[in-house]
Amino acid sequence: MVSSTFLRLLIICTQIALQIIITININITHAQLQPPAIPSAVCDNSKGNYTNSSTYQKNLNDLLSSLLSNNNGYGFYNSSRGQNSDTAFSIGLCRGDLKSDACGKCLSDATYALPGDCPNQKEAIGWSPNCMLRYANRSMYGQLEVNPAYYAWNTENVSSASLDAFNQELTALFKRLGSEAAGGGDLRKFAVGNASVGSNSNITIYGLAQCTPDVSEGECAACIDGAFGDVPSCCSGALGVRIVTPSCNIRYEISPFFDTTNETPLTSPP
Ligand SMILES: *[C@@H]1O[C@H](CO)[C@@H](O)[C@H](O)[C@H]1NC(C)=O
Ligand SMILES: *[C@@H]1O[C@H](CO)[C@@H](O)[C@H](O)[C@H]1NC(C)=O
Ligand SMILES: *[C@@H]1O[C@H](CO)[C@@H](O)[C@H](O)[C@H]1NC(C)=O
Ligand SMILES: *[C@@H]1O[C@H](CO)[C@@H](O)[C@H](O)[C@H]1NC(C)=O
Ligand SMILES: *[C@@H]1O[C@H](CO)[C@@H](O)[C@H](O)[C@H]1NC(C)=O
Ligand SMILES: *[C@@H]1O[C@H](CO)[C@@H](O)[C@H](O)[C@H]1NC(C)=O
Repeated sequence: MVSSTFLRLLIICTQIALQIIITININITHAQLQPPAIPSAVCDNSKGNYTNSSTYQKNLNDLLSSLLSNNNGYGFYNSSRGQNSDTAFSIGLCRGDLKSDACGKCLSDATYALPGDCPNQKEAIGWSPNCMLRYANRSMYGQLEVNPAYYAWNTENVSSASLDAFNQELTALFKRLGSEAAGGGDLRKFAVGNASVGSNSNITIYGLAQCTPDVSEGECAACIDGAFGDVPSCCSGALGVRIVTPSCNIRYEISPFFDTTNETPLTSPP
């Protein structure tokens, strides 16, 4: 079955170096804790096309249909299929607080949707709020990659009176989350946390930082630092921001959006 959620992906085909900026209004005006839908797919058609019924297509289909069984038990998926130049490689990553059934559903939806969103393209990447899926005809495992990046932010802003204090707390929060996520080890690099703005302010910032666990501690810290470093230019003062790249992602909101009860390790699907 094809998921309607992922089918509604916004499709942007672009050169990998081109950064894409899209504004999506995150609805946080009510107290719902549902994560907003910020789906995206980037199809890089400069990396080559496959033909229908080619060996690459067969390998890719086999790879995607078996991807879920190749995971590290902590929401990271990595595998390949085929030989020589027809080999298809894939990496999947779930948000670190996702339970394994929700993680499997997210990636399963993505494996159906992404080839349809990027038809006949050897290399593609897509992010939904809960997971990332990418595939290519090259090995990506262990490679730090910060492009393409996808930005989404809340169009409501922090009041100018609170902006300096907000930015100060935000910077300190991500400094902490960056080093915590980077130090998470070989299986999962993920951290969440919160920070209060001002002594008598009612703003609490909730932040999340995550890397794919195949990059090193230093690469992860640099990736998160770089993503956070884009906040002033993409979305200074926004009440919520999400920035995703192939190797890491960050997000903050002023209401809770992550599951603090599930920071314990994900269990492998049976
Ligand atoms: C991937 O496919 C492209 C285009 O067909 C080709 O130029 C490139 O060499 C391939 N990459 C690898 C690692 O085989
Ligand atoms: C792949 O196909 C697209 C769409 O037909 C085309 O624009 C693009 O140039 C092709 N890429 C390569 C590397 O041949
Ligand atoms: C490949 O097959 C799909 C589905 O059957 C079709 O929509 C698409 O046009 C075909 N692509 C090419 C390049 O022939
Ligand atoms: C990830 O996948 C690649 C390609 O199949 C493989 O070479 C590598 O050993 C895998 N790494 C892990 C930790 O499974
Ligand atoms: C928030 O700030 C941005 C950038 O300064 C501005 O473009 C946008 O209109 C502001 N949003 C609102 C709701 O005022
Ligand atoms: C903020 O984080 C602390 C741990 O650093 C936690 O104890 C507290 O419950 C969190 N507050 C909220 C409102 O989530």
